Amino acid sequence: MAANKSVLFLPGDGIGAEVAAEVKKVIDWMGDNRALEFDVTDGLIGGTAYDQTGSPLPRETIEAAHAADAVLLGAVGGPKWETLPFEDQPERGLLGIRKEMGLFANLRPALVFDALADASTLKYDVVAGLDIMILRELSSGIYFGEPRGIEDLGGDRRRGYNTLTYTSDEVRRIGEVAFDLAAKRNKRVCSIDKANVLQATVMWREEMIKVGERHPDIELSHMYVDNAAMQLVRNPKQFDVVVTTNMFGDILSDCAAMLTGSLGMLPSASLGEPDESGNRPALYEPVHGSAPDIAGQGIANPLAMILSFSMMLRYSFDLAGEADAVDAAVEAVLAKGLRTGDIMEDGKTRVSTEEMGAAVLAELSAAA
Ligand code: IPM
Ligand code: MG
Repeated sequence: MAANKSVLFLPGDGIGAEVAAEVKKVIDWMGDNRALEFDVTDGLIGGTAYDQTGSPLPRETIEAAHAADAVLLGAVGGPKWETLPFEDQPERGLLGIRKEMGLFANLRPALVFDALADASTLKYDVVAGLDIMILRELSSGIYFGEPRGIEDLGGDRRRGYNTLTYTSDEVRRIGEVAFDLAAKRNKRVCSIDKANVLQATVMWREEMIKVGERHPDIELSHMYVDNAAMQLVRNPKQFDVVVTTNMFGDILSDCAAMLTGSLGMLPSASLGEPDESGNRPALYEPVHGSAPDIAGQGIANPLAMILSFSMMLRYSFDLAGEADAVDAAVEAVLAKGLRTGDIMEDGKTRVSTEEMGAAVLAELSAAA
C-alpha cells in the first residue's frame, strides 16, 4: 500500500482554527470512505506561534513543513500583534514560510459558483460563469528585494525604501507555470506589468515574450496593472490565466476575489520547484485573512479552507476525482441555499461554521 500522505496543519490565528476543524472532518471522511489515509500533524505559525514560542515562525514549523508532503494553512494576523516589532509580527511567519519552502507560484482561482452569482457587487451578467486564474509570483519582487528599510536622515526626517527586483530566471519559471496552466484551460495568458514606468517589469515583459515563443499554441497578451485593475471589474471574463508580480498579484487577487461575491469562498495553492524525485513543496491556504472581528464566534465560512484542501488533493496528490467530489459537495450545499454570514442573502438559510462543514460532509456521503 502506498505510504500515507503527510499533511502539516497550520491553523494560525483568528478564524484559522475554526475553519481548520471543518477540514479535518473532510480529511477523516476521505479516510473512512475513500481509504485515503492522511497523517495530519499540527504546527504553529503567526501570532499564536509568537505567543507560545516567541517567534511567528518557529524552527520546528519550518522543519515540519519541509518534511510534510503538503501544508494546509489557515490565516495569520490580528490587532493583538500589530504593535509588535516588525520582525515578530504574524505576517513575517507567512512570508517566511513561503520563502523557506521556495513557494514561487501562487495560484489564486477566481471562480463564481452559480448559486452565488447574485452575491457579487457586480452585475450578474458580468460575473456569472467567471473562471479565471490569477498566478502571482510569490517569492521575489518588492516583497523580498534588497535593500529595504527605514533610515534616519537626522532631525525628525526619515527615508523608507523597498526594492522591486526580478531576475530573468525568476520571470521565466513563473512564466512556464502560467503557460502550463493555460494549456489545461482556455489557452490564454495575460501578463500584467508596469513596463511604462518600472524597468524591472520591462525585463519581466521581455522574458514573458521569450517564454511565450516556446508555447506557440497559447495566446500571450500584456497589460499595464492600472488598466488590468479596471478591466477586472469592467469585463473580467476576457481573462483566462493572469500572471503577475508579487505585489501586483496581491492587489489584483483581492480585486478578482471580490468579483466572486466573497473572500470567504476562495482557496489558493502555493507551489515550489519539484525536487529530483518529483516532490513539489506545496502550501494551501484560503485567500481570506484571520478575520479577528468574527473569530471565536463559530460563524466563519469554512468553504475557502475546504476548497484549499481540494486543491491539495488535485495538485499535490493527483487525486482529481476526490477533488471534484469535494468541489461538487460545496456547490451542492450552496445550491441548497446554505450560507454563512459573509455570503448571506435574503431567502437563504444562515448556518454556522460547523453546520456548513457538516452539510459538506452530508453531500459527500450522499454522492458517494
Ligand atoms: C496575501 C496576504 C499577505 C500578502 C499578507 C498577509 C502578508 O495579503 O496572502 O495576499 O501580502 O501576501
Ligand atoms: Mg493579499
